[in-house]
Amino acid sequence: MEFFEAVRARRSIRKYTPEAVPSDVMEKALDAALLAPNSSNMQTWRIYWIHEDSTKKETALACMNQGAARTAQELVAFVADPTTWKVSQQANLQHLGPNAPAAVKAYYTKLMPFVYSWRILAPVKWLMFNIMGLFKPMPRKPWSSRDIEEVAVKSTALAAENFMLAIAAQGFDTCPMEGFDESRVKKILRLSGRSRVVMIISVGRRDPEGLWGERFRLPKDIVLKKI
Ligand SMILES: Cc1cc2nc3c(=O)[nH]c(=O)nc-3n(C[C@H](O)[C@H](O)[C@H](O)COP(=O)(O)O)c2cc1C
Repeated sequence: MEFFEAVRARRSIRKYTPEAVPSDVMEKALDAALLAPNSSNMQTWRIYWIHEDSTKKETALACMNQGAARTAQELVAFVADPTTWKVSQQANLQHLGPNAPAAVKAYYTKLMPFVYSWRILAPVKWLMFNIMGLFKPMPRKPWSSRDIEEVAVKSTALAAENFMLAIAAQGFDTCPMEGFDESRVKKILRLSGRSRVVMIISVGRRDPEGLWGERFRLPKDIVLKKI
């Protein structure tokens, strides 16, 4: 399916038919998810394909048993976990190899630890960069745990969108969900305390009743500004 056709075909589906989603459709979409752009290529996302029946049922219940989850053939949780940064730091350095430019090496050996660790010094970093920012453009974050979480959440959301479009391009359907009990989902998936379940995406073949009306978007002149 052509790109713009897939973008148009994707709708949030709240009821699926009992047709199974072939594994290769899922795998292709999961591979596409992992190609999403992400902050500093740190890939602090973790994706859980919840395929096992009883775990799927338990997760659907944690999604308030909403139709989009209850009737889904597959569920995928997109999780942001900034605590994984050291794994990514080392993997990036290994990928870059010994001949990488010094500035790139410094980015991963100095800047990344400065950002991802020493969070206790967040107020000091904030003050320092805000004072310097009076005189020239300076990054104003991420310093706090909350800022770092936001960075991971942004990248994870992009992976989720790649996934949904890749499913649409293969003729199947999805529904992104944030209507779930995050504590319960974290327990089911045995996630670390600092991880965030960004979205749970259900997958299947749309039932005609699964589409709630025509697509609606605000007029362009409200949300789109050319300056
Ligand atoms: C972050 C996020 C969370 C959402 N959570 C839910 C949800 O819990 N349940 C649901 O039925 N739809 C959910 N949706 C789907 C939106 O309602 C839907 O995208 C919106 O109404 C636009 O419709 P469309 O996706 O068909 O274009 C969510 C969408 C996003 C992006």
